[in-house]
Amino acid sequence: MGSQLYYLNVSVHLLAAMFWLGGMFFFAIVGAPALRRVDPPTLRAALFEQLGERFRTAGWIAIGLLLLTGTFNLWFRGMLSDDVLGRAGFWSTPFGRTLGWKLVAVTAMLAVSAVHDFALGPAASRHPPGSPEALRARRSAAVIARVNALLGVMVVLLAVRLARGG
Ligand code: HEM
Repeated sequence: MGSQLYYLNVSVHLLAAMFWLGGMFFFAIVGAPALRRVDPPTLRAALFEQLGERFRTAGWIAIGLLLLTGTFNLWFRGMLSDDVLGRAGFWSTPFGRTLGWKLVAVTAMLAVSAVHDFALGPAASRHPPGSPEALRARRSAAVIARVNALLGVMVVLLAVRLARGG
């Protein structure tokens, strides 16, 4: 029974990671380039804004699920205790080291996502469609979105090591 719940928890963790990263890559490689060809600019801006807002909500739900199920992953592995995490030696074991790097990458990802979703993205929609300000904001949003995708890939690379002992 315990292991069934553990498998379920890891599966939800994986599905949330797929949704979040998959959505980001879909938007970058398929959605945004297609939207950029939409005319007139007011329609393009409205589509960008609506898709952005919907994905922002769904994306943060996925991030919430990742943090929750990630914490439970540690608990199911019997590691969510002071005896383990509080022991100085733990963070220099292969597992502890990889977990540490994963948590650093996750924290950076959270910060970058927040800047993209709550500052740069909305700024791109706030300015008049097609204006130089809107263009500039959209370029910065696109750059930071790439940084975020890169961080997401790093988190997955670290996660794969972590699941196999670090
Ligand atoms: C507080 C944050 C997180 C913690 C504590 C955490 C912890 C863990 C742990 C302990 C595992 C191993 C599960 C097992 O097999 O027993 C795992 C797997 C995994 N995590 Fe996380 N995680 C966190 C956030 C994330 C995020 C944000 C992503 C993706 C962007 C992610 C992606 C993955 C993936 C893809 C696996 C499966 C790797 C595999 O089975 O090869 N995790 N996580």
